[in-house]
Amino acid sequence: HSVLGNSEQNSESSVDVENCADMNWDELGFSPVPTDFMYVMKCAKGDEFSQGSLVPYGKIEFSPFATILNYGQGIFEGLKAYRTEDGRILLFRPEENARRMKIGADRLCMPSPSVDQFVTAVKQTAVANKRWVPPLGKGSLYIRPLLMGTGASLDVAPSPEYTLLIYCCPVTNYHKGSLNLKVESKFYRAISGTGGTGGIKSVTNYAPVYAATTAAKADGFSDVLFLDSATGKNIEEVAACNVFVVKGNSICTPETNGAILPGITRKSIIDIALDLGYQVMERAISVEEMLDADEVFCTGTAVVVNSVSSVTYKETRVEFKTGPETLSQKLRKTLVGIQTGCIEDTRGWTI
Ligand code: COI
Repeated sequence: HSVLGNSEQNSESSVDVENCADMNWDELGFSPVPTDFMYVMKCAKGDEFSQGSLVPYGKIEFSPFATILNYGQGIFEGLKAYRTEDGRILLFRPEENARRMKIGADRLCMPSPSVDQFVTAVKQTAVANKRWVPPLGKGSLYIRPLLMGTGASLDVAPSPEYTLLIYCCPVTNYHKGSLNLKVESKFYRAISGTGGTGGIKSVTNYAPVYAATTAAKADGFSDVLFLDSATGKNIEEVAACNVFVVKGNSICTPETNGAILPGITRKSIIDIALDLGYQVMERAISVEEMLDADEVFCTGTAVVVNSVSSVTYKETRVEFKTGPETLSQKLRKTLVGIQTGCIEDTRGWTI
């Protein structure tokens, strides 16, 4: 059963369809679909998270003074549940998301759930919504844990109350097809170095990319590649995914130096590539070096692994190899194979 092309879509008949929600799975995108349940856990400032519960999916309510609304005190995570050929549901490395959430929470002065609490809550959310996990080959259930300051404060100070909300949504690929990227020279995604918030999944890291992505999309690009704010010379990250550059047998990706999100797909692809015998380096990569690469690709939970077909920097457009023979598609195939239980998980990544 093939789930392994550049697309998660597969026209072959899928197994376990009878346990899935009654919807046209071929029409999935990366857009909101209401599901059955969401998970909510609350905690007062100074306390620890203790008891959460599943509640029917629906609107949430909090004070207009909530610090998430006014001052951006919030972080989120993203992870996926896949349906296997024999009808099981697999999560991919959820404890990594829990650890990353804790680092982000510390940075924004928020309490965070323990790894166990986080993983249990994610499992409960996936199981409660299991009919929304697409059939194998049609996509995945994207799970979005959101930790936010929901107590009232007018003062620019940590919230008196916090909420962990986990909701989910069936999705397929984030991008349609391979990427033609524009290198952004006016706006930056994050400030360089360790003093900013580029390295955590702060909600405030995302809306600031809209000005660049909206303009690029209007010019026919699929997404934007941001440069480091200190020198404007090195590549950092695409709006919602990490970037890799391939030259010969070596694969490079910008090091996570505080400004770049430490992606869990990024980390997993590094391990898979090392196991396959490639040399992998995490270091600064100039735009010029990228333009001279054999292949460029992006990774992320939403994006999975996607080839970059072209990069445009100022007036120069360079095209790169895409298609099933590329290294990125080989890496994608291995990763999705593990995530869907089609390839043996020797590393204990799936639950
Ligand atoms: C993810 O890949 O989970 C992300 O967080 C990207 C998202 C903003 C679409």
